[in-house]
Parts: sequence; structure tokens; C-alpha cells
Amino acid sequence: MSKTHTVAVIAGDGIGPEVVREGLRVLERVAAIEGFAVKPTHYPFGAEHYLATREIFPDRAFEEVRRHDAILLGAIGDPRIEVGLLEFGIIAKMRFELDLYVNLRPVRLYAEHLCPLKDILPRDVDFVVVRENTEDAYAGMRGFFKKGTPDEVATQEIIFTRKGVERVIRYAFELARRRDKRKKLTLIDKANAVRAMDLWTRTFAEVGAEYPDIARDHQYIDAACMYVVRNPRDYDTVVTSNMFGDIFTDLSAMIQGGLGVAASGNIHPGRAGLFEPIHGSAPKYTGRNVANPIATVMAVSMMLDYLGETSASARVEQAVERLLVSKRLPSLGTDSGFGTTQIGDLVIEELAAAPAR
Ligand code: IPM
Ligand code: MN
Repeated sequence: MSKTHTVAVIAGDGIGPEVVREGLRVLERVAAIEGFAVKPTHYPFGAEHYLATREIFPDRAFEEVRRHDAILLGAIGDPRIEVGLLEFGIIAKMRFELDLYVNLRPVRLYAEHLCPLKDILPRDVDFVVVRENTEDAYAGMRGFFKKGTPDEVATQEIIFTRKGVERVIRYAFELARRRDKRKKLTLIDKANAVRAMDLWTRTFAEVGAEYPDIARDHQYIDAACMYVVRNPRDYDTVVTSNMFGDIFTDLSAMIQGGLGVAASGNIHPGRAGLFEPIHGSAPKYTGRNVANPIATVMAVSMMLDYLGETSASARVEQAVERLLVSKRLPSLGTDSGFGTTQIGDLVIEELAAAPAR
């Protein structure tokens, strides 16, 4: 009997359903090649469902979703709906209530021509950002006072807990060791201005003492934004707070060719992980079969790795790499000359050829 992995699928808004459809085709195909089974269950949550029913993500569905082995998400966000309502009711709900404290964002340049920086080769861009995923300004401790008046005050607390900071830093040290590449961990914070981040600096030093084999580096977020463009070679594993991680990973994604390829995993070892492309719902491209599904395919690759299907994960990654290196898919934008479903076909063609690492 081959193994069956259960996957809750929330395709979501905008281009979400289109890219997820291709991601699932790739998943089914690689499962057939590698000899395991996948059982997807589709959930309708997102803007259309909200407009029709006023339901965001009801608790009973949430309880069902969390019992799957993994969750695959397309995108959430729709201009017809109040900013943040669905993002927080769906994405953040899963991140917080499942306590998915690691947001893992690999940055790899698969083909030289995809990098907007000059003289940067694929071997120069291979790092992973470990973004804290449950604290910071995202905890939602906010308020408005005298709202709508000239005297309005708006607050949102940046919170860090010793426990939250320590566990994500520990995860990052373990990852740097497991990657076994440059054996280096860079902490990005802003402890010179946001003094609460001294907690990060101290915890990094304390936990780091347990990992003498891992070199430690420390950068402030503003400098890191400059260094990553100037010298992406410098990074191996990066650990940072929720909001800086959000910003730094969009910047990093551009170095690997843009949001068309960047994927992420929201994880808490031992629990259902949530995998998604970093890009959003791109409303203007909805339903036009122009969105590139590669980032979702890469999210599927990360999900497979998390599920223990490492050979299938590598096969998918190699299929994408081959497709990009060969320039059969010449670009990652909507101008590639290939539609969403055609790009899915191209990945599937490459899958059969790609030997697992
Ligand atoms: C991301 C997104 C989300 C975030 C938004 C949609 C709330 O930008 O996953 O990076 O800020 O975390
Ligand atoms: Mn983001």
C-alpha cells in the first residue's frame, strides 16, 4: 500500500484558483511517478464565498482543515473587500491558531537571465529566510482613539516574547546546520532603533553558543536591504522578525527572478504546514490564463519536502530549474508567451525527464 497524504486546498481569490489548479496537476503527476497518493479536499474560502455567505473561515471548517497533513493556499485579497479582513481571517488565522511560527522562504536563482542584477550567477544566490510568523506588529494589538478627528491617535504594538524569539532562532540554527552549506546564520533586526529588539540580539548570542559550528552574522534591516542587492553571496540562512521578514523576502524574491517563482512554507514541526506562493491575488490578471503558476509549483515542492517526500520534492524543483535554464519558459512574467495551463504542461513534461537528486 502506498502512502496517502491529505491536503486541504484553499485556492482563494484572484489568480489563486488558476495557479493552484496547475500546482495540483503537478502534484498528482509527481505522486504517480514516485508512487504515493494525494487526497486533496477543496475549501471555498475567499472573497466570492464571503460575498455570497458573509462567512470568512468558520471554526468547523478550520477544525477540519487543521487535521490534514498539509494545507495549500493560492492567494487571498480582493479589492471589493475591506483591506485586511480576509487576509487576517484566513491567512493569519492559520498562522496564529496553528502556531505556525516559522515562515520559511528559500531564495534560489535557477537561471542567470532571471536575475536583474549584473554578473550574478545561480551559485551566488542560494539562501533561505526564516521569518518569525506569530508575533511583532502582526499580533494585532492595535487601536484607534478619537478616530476620524484631527486628534486621532493610532497604535499598533510590536511584541516579541522570549519564547517566540528563541524557538525561531533555534529553528534557524538547526536549519543552517542541516543545509550544511556555508554554515552561517545572519540575524537581521533593528536593535539600534527598536530597542525591544535587544531581545533578539541577546537570544541570538545565547542560543548561538550551543551551535559553535555555525558562524554568526548580524545586520540591521536597512543595511541588509543594501547588502542583499550588493552581494547576495553573503547569505546562507537568515533569521528575522515577522515584519522585516515580510519586506526582506519580497526584495530577495526579485533577486531570484521575481514573485513568479518565490514560495513559502508556514510551519510548526509536527503540525499541518501551510504552503503558498509569496505573490498575491493579482486581480487584474484573474481568469485570463496569463498568471504564471511556477511559484505555486515551488510551494508544492516545499510541501512535498515537508511531507517527507524528498525525492518528489527534488524532482519538482529540478523540473522547474530545467524549464527555466533551457529558456523553454523564457520569462516569469505575464509576457512569457505561455498561459497558466501551458506552463503547467511544460512543468509536467519536464517532470518525467528529471531524475531525483
Ligand atoms: C505575505 C503577505 C502577508 C503578510 C499579507 C497578505 C498579510 O504579504 O505572506 O508575505 O504580510 O504576511
Ligand atoms: Mn509579504
